[in-house]
Amino acid sequence: MTARIAYCTDMEKSVLSNNFEKRGWIQVGPDDEWNFYWAGAQTCRSLFSVDSGYRMNDNQMINHFPTHYELTRKDLLVKNIKRYRRELEREGSPLAARDATGRYIHLDFLPTTFMLPADYNLFVEEFRRNPNTTWILKPAGRSQGVGIFLVNKLAQIKKWSRDTKSSFNPALVKDTYVISRYIENPLLIGGKKFDLRMYVLVTSYRPLKAYMYKQGFCRFCTVRYDTSGQELDNMFVHLTNVSIQKHGEEYNSVHGGKWPVRTLRLYLEGTRGKARTDKLFADVTWLVVHSLRAVAPIMASDRHCFECYGYDIIIDDQLKPWMIEVNASPSMTSTTANDRIMKYKLVDDIISIVLPPDGVPNVHWNKIPANDKSGDFELLLDEELYQNSDHSATHRGKNSDRHSAPRWK
Ligand SMILES: Nc1ncnc2c1ncn2[C@@H]1O[C@H](COP(=O)(O)OP(=O)(O)O)[C@@H](O)[C@H]1O
Ligand SMILES: [Mg+2]
Repeated sequence: MTARIAYCTDMEKSVLSNNFEKRGWIQVGPDDEWNFYWAGAQTCRSLFSVDSGYRMNDNQMINHFPTHYELTRKDLLVKNIKRYRRELEREGSPLAARDATGRYIHLDFLPTTFMLPADYNLFVEEFRRNPNTTWILKPAGRSQGVGIFLVNKLAQIKKWSRDTKSSFNPALVKDTYVISRYIENPLLIGGKKFDLRMYVLVTSYRPLKAYMYKQGFCRFCTVRYDTSGQELDNMFVHLTNVSIQKHGEEYNSVHGGKWPVRTLRLYLEGTRGKARTDKLFADVTWLVVHSLRAVAPIMASDRHCFECYGYDIIIDDQLKPWMIEVNASPSMTSTTANDRIMKYKLVDDIISIVLPPDGVPNVHWNKIPANDKSGDFELLLDEELYQNSDHSATHRGKNSDRHSAPRWK
């Protein structure tokens, strides 16, 4: 008989509990002996903190890396990618090549971003060089559109910085903000702005092992995009977040608020051609791979951990994808029947990949799942297989050919 798996979760979401129960797992509390914990990022950080005194055993697995914020905090993400580019440049890597204007040719997937208040002077310099641009300010550690606003005049930032300094609310003053160049020319469909949500599963950072989910989706704004800059204050025009737009059939009749990524692909192949569409999706893969490589050396790559990230990507009207942010706990709430089916399958596929063949969490497993275990996930990269590509037959028998040529090479 196979061992009974005990699971624990802080989130009462049916797409999670239905999956656990389908597998015959039993639910236990956080103080009991669990094997598999689907936790909030905060819970995971405190479990790993020195103060908690908690030590995981070899048969325990949890859905976050303790230092995930290196990728998922808006300010740290930018810092890490900037550092990664500088390091590649120092090594003389062709990846870090720049054009005549100083832009990175291959690693320019992040809108120009500065920290506030730390980089205020650098921002002012940049703004003076390009005075007719729009910028978006976001609190570094928040989500769901909270505290975000757009500006296109220096005076607005000066006023904002005066107001927050003199604010009676100390929580506001403490917040670090990022200020990013606003992508003013998003690709519009039916006159509406949208973003692309892609799910990326990392099972190890060193060696790096990552997968991308085939079923991403587009999230549309509810109101038409305004290019005149008149509606800078109307967040329904500019922010595509679920929480802001209240996506759901009852609110949003156009496209039901969401499109599966395959619908986007067909639409783009029809309107822009197959070659440009393929290039766009290859560029999306590229930016995901390099964002992970940027943080891999500094992540705490604990063997008990795996993590499924929600990447937010904006595509501009030139079909260039821009990385907006990475979420550590993408929402498992479902808004429609299709959404529920997709997220249920997402969780099912995650569990299949992260568990060893006998289904019992085990930190000594090499995290190389059999091909038929990855469901709708596609392998993005596996440094262990790649380094050992001559020997990979010993890892996967006849299935190893799938990994011989990583897609991002
Ligand atoms: N640089 C940008 N250019 C254009 N739109 C942006 C930019 N940054 C954010 N947005 C829009 O604002 C939304 C929220 O920003 P995001 O960084 O994802 O913060 P949150 O944590 O609130 O989700 C995004 O989904 C996107 O629609
Ligand atoms: Mg977001």
